[in-house]
Amino acid sequence: MRAQLPVLVRSLVAGFALLAGSALVVPAPAEETITLPKQTWSFDSLFGTYDLASAQRGFQIYAEVCSNCHSMNQMFYRNLSGIGLSPEQIKGIAAGFEVPLGLNDAGEPVSGPATPSSRFRNPFPNEKVARAVNNGALPPDQSLIVNAREGGANYIYALLTGYADPPADMKMQSGMNYNKYFPGHQIAMRQPLADGQVDYADKTKNTPDQEARDVTTFLAWAANPELVERKKMGVRIALFLVLMTGITYAVKRQIWSDVDH
Ligand code: HEC
Repeated sequence: MRAQLPVLVRSLVAGFALLAGSALVVPAPAEETITLPKQTWSFDSLFGTYDLASAQRGFQIYAEVCSNCHSMNQMFYRNLSGIGLSPEQIKGIAAGFEVPLGLNDAGEPVSGPATPSSRFRNPFPNEKVARAVNNGALPPDQSLIVNAREGGANYIYALLTGYADPPADMKMQSGMNYNKYFPGHQIAMRQPLADGQVDYADKTKNTPDQEARDVTTFLAWAANPELVERKKMGVRIALFLVLMTGITYAVKRQIWSDVDH
């Protein structure tokens, strides 16, 4: 009996290792691992914050380029105060978009300029139209896209800068574009950014790289607007815990000081 125990334990361990191992080494069939180049973001570190100038330029990219295909249904124009835009600026921006305003007295749908309390304009009336004009693919809502994709901001940036000619041996489906970082490498979205795609008011160079960086910063903020607050709170809690540990230790020493050791 005694001699059998280690054998039993060993086979149990081997069984678990096999289970765990098989779970680890079976990726989706024929899928390669794509390594994303790691970027440095202003909002990375424990004390990081959003680069608001970059987020504002990023909103401009979203508004002028991406919003022609991608909705951001969780965003209201008034939320843009979070990237440092003034109420007047927000009013002006909203007024530039036409959104549905419900029904008129005759029961017909009417539309008009958005206000700060409107949701971001949806580019398509429904999914069918969206797919019809995008080679069958649906441009995903961008409100939370940074959280919804593995790799987060690094992935979005890589995707936007990852267009290239397909390798000679790759058969591309019609209407698809080669992208180094999109799973499967064939994406229905054309390269949306180009040199000089938008004019930046602050004279930042409008290279595709800079545009990708700015729009990624904007999308990262949109997905996690409370990130900076959360980090600050985390640091405060950590400091509080350190302080409490010190006080508790001092009190313990004080209480036990007249007990003989
Ligand atoms: C002309 C329409 C169009 C424009 C403009 C456009 N996209 Fe897309 N986008 C699409 C379509 C269609 C898809 C779905 C692609 C697919 O599934 O093959 C997509 C997918 C994406 C995805 C998801 C990729 C994934 O992993 O599933 C991201 C991120 C994205 N777009 C970002 C952007 C950004 C940022 C901009 C603006 C700079 C932009 N897009 C502009 C049509 C567009």
